[in-house]
Amino acid sequence: MSNIKEIERRKTFAIISHPDAGKTTLTEKLLLFSGAIQIAGAVKSNKIKKTATSDFLEIEKQRGISVASSVLSFDYKNYKINLLDTPGHKDFAEDTYRTLTAVDSVILVIDCVKGVEEQTEKLMSVCRMRKTPVIVLINKLDREGRDPFELLDEIEEKLSIKVRPLTFPFGIGISFRGVYNMVQNSFSFYKANKQYIEDDVKSFNSIDDPELIKTFGEDAIKLKEDVELVDGVYDTFSRDDYLAGNLAPVFFGSALNNFGIRELLDTFVDIAPNPVSRETTKGIIEPTNEKFSGFVFKIHANIDPKHRDRMAFVRICSGTFERNTYYHHVRLNRDLKFPNPASFLAQSKTLVESAYPGDVIGLYDSDTFKIGDTLTEGETFMFKGIPRFSPEIFRIVMNKDPFKSKQLEKGLRQLTDEGLAQLFIQTDTNRKVIGVVGELQFDVIKYRLLQEFGATVDFTYMNAFKAFWLRYKTEDDIDEIKRLRSNSLYVDKTDEYVFIAESSYALARAQEKNPNVEFLSQVEHNDQTLELGD
Ligand code: G4P
Repeated sequence: MSNIKEIERRKTFAIISHPDAGKTTLTEKLLLFSGAIQIAGAVKSNKIKKTATSDFLEIEKQRGISVASSVLSFDYKNYKINLLDTPGHKDFAEDTYRTLTAVDSVILVIDCVKGVEEQTEKLMSVCRMRKTPVIVLINKLDREGRDPFELLDEIEEKLSIKVRPLTFPFGIGISFRGVYNMVQNSFSFYKANKQYIEDDVKSFNSIDDPELIKTFGEDAIKLKEDVELVDGVYDTFSRDDYLAGNLAPVFFGSALNNFGIRELLDTFVDIAPNPVSRETTKGIIEPTNEKFSGFVFKIHANIDPKHRDRMAFVRICSGTFERNTYYHHVRLNRDLKFPNPASFLAQSKTLVESAYPGDVIGLYDSDTFKIGDTLTEGETFMFKGIPRFSPEIFRIVMNKDPFKSKQLEKGLRQLTDEGLAQLFIQTDTNRKVIGVVGELQFDVIKYRLLQEFGATVDFTYMNAFKAFWLRYKTEDDIDEIKRLRSNSLYVDKTDEYVFIAESSYALARAQEKNPNVEFLSQVEHNDQTLELGD
């Protein structure tokens, strides 16, 4: 049975921002607009508080609570919208990068006072790599922010993307009066309003409508000038350019005050892509493909000792997923069925009978999945495009309890399968090195190894700059590295060689001596998976 109708209803996206720009607030307001929740404040309570950076237990507890908000599905205007939540904390940035592989578009929130910030740039570089369509919301217009034209220039420059404002603010901060909608020639009057949804919109025939003067008096001249300037400076909006990831439509608003959100959501459902095709080790898979396929982009473990289960989040890419049906776990070459798959409606988890491309389902898992795993109806391809980045910080694992070596091995394997950290092993010495993005993860790993596996570890400092996956044609190509640089040579979980350079100088030296070897600080899951025997 064709699932085309279901595919055309679906829009799967994520909201990304530098912490504090307003991601959580916007998420909540979108749910409020769609009617999925009734009161403001509900999402907020799930939020990982950034202030508690040192208190990882608190963070983990809140992560636990936030399983249900990992995916928020809601209906709006007959569309089924899947909003994938991304962790706000920068130490969990890799989780966010992986989640971006499971969406078809993003909304980027920028604080009008602060402009483009560090984390915004990093997240956008992942979107650019994947050509993900982006809609921008410039938020907090009720605050004394920067000049809108200056902000637009900064976005174009720092994020290397063309922009096209579709609304434009009139005043800012204390003098903020609202936004002019250039597509509909209407003006939305701003009123601070945190709880309720209320619209105060006036339509005009065009920006030259005499009604504009009647409404705004002399101030109409400034508004008209600004709108004309926008029309003069920026090309007309092209949906094709947006879908190709080359042009970002921009909205202005105040998420906290429910302002500008309706325009954003209406435009989003109009222009955002339906589930798109995806690359596999055996070519492109279209969502309309009759046979079910999907991949694991996130694994969430419960640190509560009473509930040890993990949940693997699967993005459906083609066909229809049915409960209690056997599917093929390609890496393990095993057929599995899932009696209790979960879907996520607004904020509650429910049992799902069938799910379609664009949907995300949660599968209860006991150590069968790792990031990048693919489920199919029997075919033997794996999905590509899930990035693995070099960690930023490296530590050597010291086993404090030799009687628990087996438990330690198992624990390290499971935690790294979840994508919490990366494990590198030096083949000669069996030295184990853990690499992470943020310090906080070492605390999490230490705690979980002890609580869940009974293993006690310490981490000792390691002088390392970055990890590089080695790409080469024959074993001879890495002969020099094996003989003379074995101290820097490790294997990762998939037995691929990784060179951990002490410094950029050490890397340059190794590159110079090994011209037939590529040193990559970023690769993809499954990109080395060649033939998986049929
Ligand atoms: P994040 O998820 O991107 O980290 O940001 P979040 O939504 O938590 O927003 C960060 C802070 O910015 C919050 O204030 C929030 O209320 C505020 N905020 C969001 N949108 C707007 C807006 O349009 N205008 C103004 N003025 N503020 C906005 P907080 O004090 O950190 O938290 P809370 O005490 O309000 O919960």
